[in-house]
Amino acid sequence: MSKRSLLAPVFLPQAYLVEVAWEVCNQVGGIYTVIRSKVPVMMEQWAGRYCLIGPYVHPNISAELEPLDDIEDIFGQAAASLRKRGYDVHYAEWLVTGKPRVVLLNPNSVDTDTLNVIKYLLWQNHGISTPGDNALINQVVSFGYLTKLFIDELMKLSGEDHKVITHFHEWMGGLPILDIKREGIPVKTIFTTHATQLGRHLAINSPQFYSHLPFFQWEDEARKFGVETEATMEFKIAQSCDYFTTVSDLTARECEYLLKREVDAILPNGLNIQRFETLYEFQNLHSEYKEQIHDFIMGHFFHSYSFDLDKTMYFFTSGRFEFKNKGFDLTLEALSYLNEQLKREGSDVTVVMFFVSKRDYYSIKPETLHSHAVMEEIRQTCDAILKQVGSRLFYESTSRNDHHLPNLNDFVDEYWKLRYRRTIQSWKTNNLPSLVTHNLVDEEHDEVMKTLQEKNLLNHKDDKVKVVYHPDFISSTNPLFGMDYLHFVRGCNLGVFPSYYEPWGYTPLEALASGIPAVTSDLSGFGDYLLNNFPDHEKNGIFVVERSKRTFDWSARQLAAYMYRFLKLSRRERVIQRNNAESYSAYFDWKNLILYYNSIYEKAVAR
Ligand code: UDP
Ligand code: GLC
Repeated sequence: MSKRSLLAPVFLPQAYLVEVAWEVCNQVGGIYTVIRSKVPVMMEQWAGRYCLIGPYVHPNISAELEPLDDIEDIFGQAAASLRKRGYDVHYAEWLVTGKPRVVLLNPNSVDTDTLNVIKYLLWQNHGISTPGDNALINQVVSFGYLTKLFIDELMKLSGEDHKVITHFHEWMGGLPILDIKREGIPVKTIFTTHATQLGRHLAINSPQFYSHLPFFQWEDEARKFGVETEATMEFKIAQSCDYFTTVSDLTARECEYLLKREVDAILPNGLNIQRFETLYEFQNLHSEYKEQIHDFIMGHFFHSYSFDLDKTMYFFTSGRFEFKNKGFDLTLEALSYLNEQLKREGSDVTVVMFFVSKRDYYSIKPETLHSHAVMEEIRQTCDAILKQVGSRLFYESTSRNDHHLPNLNDFVDEYWKLRYRRTIQSWKTNNLPSLVTHNLVDEEHDEVMKTLQEKNLLNHKDDKVKVVYHPDFISSTNPLFGMDYLHFVRGCNLGVFPSYYEPWGYTPLEALASGIPAVTSDLSGFGDYLLNNFPDHEKNGIFVVERSKRTFDWSARQLAAYMYRFLKLSRRERVIQRNNAESYSAYFDWKNLILYYNSIYEKAVAR
């Protein structure tokens, strides 16, 4: 891709645009972020000619939807036709920034007999077999079927003058392309893959994944990993679409070998960047959210021992649980080096590293909740004492003739003194602060837990690097932090994402956009994009770990050295770096990167 230059603005065609993805109104990973963050700019360009299609599978999604009248436009009319045929179809405004129109199709409203016929036809017409009773594949097949019916209706309603462009993301959304092609329906199909099924598996299991890429036989590998159905669907979709696209050069190479087709275009991912009027506004937000994290840390650690919060740095990593692909292994290795070095030097700095991911768990650990609750009680006791001392001191100071400060202890009731002592005593413990906040379903085999044990990163008092493993995504309804994920990001100091396999990788970009420096790797699409387009990235708060041509240990040491350098920055230097990071992220605003999408849409209609 060309250096920093973006495409010239293109003329957007008079057409309807339908964008289909399994992650519309249904967050699984970064595809949700692509769709959702892109909405404002899509609405600005396409307005009423744009509609998103997703599955109706998220349990609480109705709270985010404002139902629309079916007769309002052709999307609603097409949705109504499907509903008349007995399917569960929702047509609504999705209440996120930009308020797009969405059609949500409930895959579970396709009955078993119909599903069996659809599966038979998939095999007969496209050579895709769907053996067994895999619940997710059944849903994907049903969703594909309903989407195709919807597109058929739309074609009937759109009339001669209006063209329809259909844009499908990932194999889970792309199935309708196969029948659109087979039936010769005059609608242009664009397919964007955000990874390859096999790439993900091979990266985890093949030590030399990148150098062996040209030599893998995709059918054999699919069989080996038990993903023949998914891989075959993906392969056929990639072969059949009019335009085949992906999100980075790295994944384009993977597509060439594993899906046997060169991509027609690369569509890098952007964000809806919200800039602030003044720089100190977002610096203030950093302080505000950092205070909230301090609260959590006091509740988690201080009942065992304390450390100076003014000299504490919050590092974090986050994302789906792919231990090796997301570079959690490398991060732990680097943290272990960092811990040793800081201990050797007798450093007065503490690093708290958060691992935020999704694992199966039973519940939040009762002792974690208890510790936070007792700390709240201590806070209330302190507030009550403060109030009592304040009002009595005021009375004394106005009624006494001398100017001496009285003994403040005398103003506190015995009741509060006792309560103060008792709550603190009941809170303090000799146990080490827990590594993980939840009771995991399979703690014994959890790779993060096992590696923490191996590396002796166990939250000992003398450890300079402490760890908090939060095996659930962070959201405002989560009782431990009570803050949104992006607010949590803002309160931290450094995001650490040295992925081994990462077609793009939103998490470091989101950190930058929040004014937080971050680490990525040359094996992530985003890192690779930076290396090709932004030679000055490091001074602007983003560090790209070299992994592609280096050993694991070399990369771990490089990461540890970077973390160490980061800790040596002065407060002023960190403030400057945050400013740079924030302004740097402006380039990745969808207002710029949407031009890649527009260029494909333009071609699709012109062809
Ligand atoms: N994320 C989130 N809450 C969390 C952790 C992560 O919403 O607690 C989101 C994050 O904002 C990002 C997405 O998960 O947009 C992960 O996307 P990425 O492209 O980094 O990786 P993927 O999961 O798609 O492989
Ligand atoms: C995929 C990839 C991730 C990418 C996201 C959005 O889920 O794993 O790297 O950022 O899609 O394109």
